[in-house]
Amino acid sequence: MTPTSRANFGSRIGAILASAGSAVGLGNIWRFPTQTGENGGAAFILVYILCVLLMGMPVMISEFIIGRRGRANTAAAYRHLAPGTRWIWVGRLGVLTGFLILSYYAVVAGWTVEYTVASLLSRFQGMSGSGEFTQYFNRFVADPVMPVVYTVFFLVLTHVVIAQGVVKGIEKSSKVFMPLFFLLLLVLVGCALTMPGAGEAMRFLFTPDFSKIDSGVVLAAMGQAFFSLSLGMGCLCTYASYFNRNTRLGQTALSVGVIDTFVAIMAGLMIFPAVFSVEGVGVDAGPSLLFITLPSVLQSAFGSLPLLGYLFSLLFYVLLILATLTSTISLHEVVTAYLAEEFGLSRHRAAVLVTAGCSLLGTLCALSMGLLKPYTVCGMTLFDLFDFVTAKLMLPIGAFFISLFVGWKLERNVIAEELTNYGTLRFRLLRPFTLLLRYVVPVLIVLIFLNELGAGIF
Ligand code: TRP
Repeated sequence: MTPTSRANFGSRIGAILASAGSAVGLGNIWRFPTQTGENGGAAFILVYILCVLLMGMPVMISEFIIGRRGRANTAAAYRHLAPGTRWIWVGRLGVLTGFLILSYYAVVAGWTVEYTVASLLSRFQGMSGSGEFTQYFNRFVADPVMPVVYTVFFLVLTHVVIAQGVVKGIEKSSKVFMPLFFLLLLVLVGCALTMPGAGEAMRFLFTPDFSKIDSGVVLAAMGQAFFSLSLGMGCLCTYASYFNRNTRLGQTALSVGVIDTFVAIMAGLMIFPAVFSVEGVGVDAGPSLLFITLPSVLQSAFGSLPLLGYLFSLLFYVLLILATLTSTISLHEVVTAYLAEEFGLSRHRAAVLVTAGCSLLGTLCALSMGLLKPYTVCGMTLFDLFDFVTAKLMLPIGAFFISLFVGWKLERNVIAEELTNYGTLRFRLLRPFTLLLRYVVPVLIVLIFLNELGAGIF
C-alpha cells in the first residue's frame, strides 16, 4: 500500500488530539484514583510519574516510529519492518490485548452512561452521605440487565463512530470536546478543594510515605502508566500509521504524556477531597470509588444551586462519555484495522465482528459483578481478572518487546529518519532515547516482574 492511499489525520494538532483522545479516558478518571487509593497514595504517584518518564515516553515514541514507518495495522507494521520474522506476534498479542481491554473497559463505560441517565432524571437529588451513593452503585452493578444493556450500548456507539472512518470520527470530536472537558474538570477540582477533607487529601496525594512502596505498588504503577498512555498493544502504533510526514513524533509524545498525566492528577484532586470529606468511603474502595465520590462532589459543589448543578453535572457526565468514547474508539480501531487488513474483510464486516465479540465478553464481565460473582479465577471475578491480566501482564510484556524491537532490531538510520522527519528537523535526544530503549526499559520491566514473582513466592 502506498503511503498516500492510507487515511491521514488532517493536521499536526489533529495527530496530538487523536492520540491524547485515546490516552485520556477512564484510565485517568476512574482507574488512576482507584489504583492510587489501593496502593497508598503519594508514593504510588511518584513511582507512576517515574514510570511515565522512563518507560512511557520511550515506548510511546517507539510505537509512533513503528506505526508511521510500517503504515499498516499493528501486526502488518512488524511484517513490513521485519519481513519473515516472528516479530509479527508482538502485533498479534497487542490485538488480543486490545480486544480484552475493550471488553471490560466497555463495562465501566456503561456505568458512566447509567450515571448520565441518573443525573438526567435527577435521581441523585436529595441523596446525601456516602451510604446512599454506595448503595446505589452496588445495587446497580449487581443488576443482571441494565449494566449489560449499557455495555452493549457503548460498544454499539463506538461501532457507529468507527464505521464513519477514522479521521472524520476521531479527529473532529476530539477537537471540540476535549478542551471543554478539561475546563469542567478544573471547575470541579476547584470545588472539591473547598471540601473539609481537602487538606487530608493533599497530604495523601503529595506526601509520599516510602515505606509503602513494595513490589506490588511498583507493578501497579507500571501497569497504570502503560494503561493510561494507551501503550503496549499497538494502539498508538495504529494511530501513527495515520500520521503524515510533518507530524513531529517526539513533540507529539511529550504533549500526550503531559496532557494525560495532568488529567490523571486533576482527577485525583477532584476525587480524594470527597473521599476524606464523606464518612464511610475508604480510599481503597476499588472500582466503585469514582462512582461513589463524583456524585458527592457534584452535590457539595452545587447543592444550593439546583438548576446550575443539574446542568453542570449532566454536561460533565456527557463529556466523560465522550472522553471515554475516544478511548474505546482507539481500542476498537486496532482490532478492526487488523481484521480488515489481514483477512481481507471490509471495514464494516471487521467492525461488526469486533463489536459482537466484545459485547459477548463484556456481558460476561458485567455479569461478573452480580449474577456470576461466585465464579472466580484465582480469587478474582472475570472483570478483575481481565483488568489484572491486561494491565499488569500483557501491556508490560507488549512494551518489553516494542522497546526491544526499536532498540535492537530497527536500523539506526530508520529511527533517525523518523525522529527528524526525514532530516527536516533536529532531534537532540536520539542517544538517550536509544539508551533508554536498549537497556533501561526492558531491564526495568523484567526486574519489576521478577520482583513481584519473588514477593509472591517467598
Ligand atoms: N488509555 C485509555 C484510558 O486511559 C484506555 C486505552 C485506550 C488503552 N487505548 C488503550 C489502554 C490501549 C491500554 C492500551 O482510558
